[in-house]
Amino acid sequence: MPAIRHLYFHIPFCPKLCPYCCFYVEVGAKNKTRGFLDALLREVEVAARGHELKPTTIFFGGGTPSALLADQLAYLFDGLRARLDLSALEEFTLEANPATIRADKARVLREGGVTRLSLGVQSWDDALLKTLGRVHTAAQAEKTVGILRDAGFDNLSIDLMFSVPGQTAEQWRATLDKTIALQPEHVSSYCLTYEEDTEYFRKLTGGQFKQDDEHDAQLFETTMDVLASAGFAQYEISNYARPGRESQHNRAYWLGADYLGFGPSAFSTVGTDRWENVRDTAEYTRRVMAGENLVGFTEHLSPDTRRGEIAAFAMRTSEGLSAADLAPWEKSVAHFLAIGLLIEEAGRVRLTQRGKLLADAVAAAFV
Ligand SMILES: C[S@@+](CC[C@H](N)C(=O)[O-])C[C@H]1O[C@@H](n2cnc3c(N)ncnc32)[C@H](O)[C@@H]1O
Ligand code: SF4
Repeated sequence: MPAIRHLYFHIPFCPKLCPYCCFYVEVGAKNKTRGFLDALLREVEVAARGHELKPTTIFFGGGTPSALLADQLAYLFDGLRARLDLSALEEFTLEANPATIRADKARVLREGGVTRLSLGVQSWDDALLKTLGRVHTAAQAEKTVGILRDAGFDNLSIDLMFSVPGQTAEQWRATLDKTIALQPEHVSSYCLTYEEDTEYFRKLTGGQFKQDDEHDAQLFETTMDVLASAGFAQYEISNYARPGRESQHNRAYWLGADYLGFGPSAFSTVGTDRWENVRDTAEYTRRVMAGENLVGFTEHLSPDTRRGEIAAFAMRTSEGLSAADLAPWEKSVAHFLAIGLLIEEAGRVRLTQRGKLLADAVAAAFV
């Protein structure tokens, strides 16, 4: 069996639930215990018995991994080092909320081997941060960037969200300009999605919030123009990097590599098997420690489904796909080429600028 090269760790704790968020998270410190950390490490031990684990990338996501205390993070990093062969590790990303980083924690992250910080800034406008229910201010986020730079991090990514209710084109432009001025190596810029079972979704269906596709498209086009002018390459529909600073972990997902996920609600995909751990931290911890099955959901993908899924993800990247890879969808591809949403160049088919605005519709043709 080939080695698994990409590991994801779901840390489900957040200081506060953001009203637009649909990730599995827990607010407060109830389960933020040593027991949970031991369960994560035990899950790694068990996985290492069934698979060769030699990660080139590790991603701590959530939730908010930076919500763990400095000594909890150090305990986890030491535990991972004791259980995993990290000799091939090239990228170790951790997602952080700006309100949760102080100099001592930044030092622990650095010493623990984290190479890349993904900072959830979302906006540099305090009024919009309030609308988003964020626990940090713009000034706090800027200070956090400084703390991380001082700690020696040379690979910072900033997460932003556009089409926030009430956000004007000028506010978005100012957020992009401020981001560029801080010189991150990477920017992820997401159009707000109204996810079911969130407060935002209820406000949308209740008529308090309105969606405006034209405004969304305008902000997205501004993003692409402004970040391109500042030297960021859009290597995936929502992701922009300085040369050589693309997220290797995310690229591996998009190109269809196998990965294992650890922690509650974490997904794994190996070949055509996909499963998700139970979405309950206490239950997850109990099951790991009792040696019980952790899987809350599992599916076996047909090879065609998996191929379609990989094509849909790869089509969102700047490399696109070879014409040969696209043979099963020849008709749809010909249609998208004819109407100018796809372009073929040097044997690769990829989204045009107009196609990027309709990327979801194009991707849907493959799945
Ligand atoms: C899993 S979150 C983790 C980051 C961290 N917990 C935080 O919020 O600072 C990763 C990113 O997804 C984006 N995101 C979360 N919910 C979203 C939504 N409903 N629509 C668009 N982007 C979203 C945000 O930009 C967020 O920083
Ligand atoms: S957006 Fe981030 S901080 Fe907010 S609830 Fe979701 S995971 Fe937690």
